[in-house]
Amino acid sequence: MHWPLAKMSKISLHYRLATRDDIVALTALMNAAIGELQKPFLTDAQIASSRVIMGLDTQLIDDGTYFVVEQEGLVAGCGGWSRRATLYGGDRSPGRDAAPLDPAKDAARVRAMYTHPSFTRRGVGRLILALCEDAARTEGFACVELMATMAGEPLYRACGYDAIEEVVDERGGVGVPLLRMKKVL
Ligand SMILES: CC(C)(COP(=O)(O)OP(=O)(O)OC[C@H]1O[C@@H](n2cnc3c(N)ncnc32)[C@H](O)[C@@H]1OP(=O)(O)O)[C@@H](O)C(=O)NCCC(=O)NCCS
Repeated sequence: MHWPLAKMSKISLHYRLATRDDIVALTALMNAAIGELQKPFLTDAQIASSRVIMGLDTQLIDDGTYFVVEQEGLVAGCGGWSRRATLYGGDRSPGRDAAPLDPAKDAARVRAMYTHPSFTRRGVGRLILALCEDAARTEGFACVELMATMAGEPLYRACGYDAIEEVVDERGGVGVPLLRMKKVL
């Protein structure tokens, strides 16, 4: 998918909650983001491996905690948050845990942040993070946690997240470096 005209425009971003009708478009966007935007950070084998541990989590859509950002009617990015235990991963990732978190003692999760390669560095990721943090704060959470890819780390650092643990995820067959990060709201 390439949207060169949209890339040149400066029209403002609009957001809404995702629905199951968005799944086909969001899956295509994620595949493009994973394949293109991780190239400066990972080998081809690591990118292939990361497809196993990343992707769409339909639980977030069903929970009403997943946002879509559009520009001129085109889907520019997506991302969300969660009041459930799973820290990262898509529908196909092993080891998911839908247990509810306790806002009094747990950190809410920021989940599945993706910007289409034609829409990077326009504030899509920053907008979605702000929406997630506001929603988590409104539900009583005092902090948020996430598992950052190497491609995601610069965004999260720019938005006030601190590293708490380096991780290598081997579940896709080749080790993929990740960074657990946290922010006090
Ligand atoms: C991570 C990702 C969502 C960032 O999306 P984005 O919409 O381009 O981010 P923003 O435009 O909101 O960036 C906000 C700030 O973050 C920082 N930033 C974002 N991407 C960066 C990059 N590639 N290099 C350096 N800084 C970056 C910058 O400070 C940027 O502000 P600036 O553009 O004014 O300098 C996108 O690169 C992506 O989809 N990557 C592949 C999938 C992925 O790894 N997702 C993260 C899962 S944890």
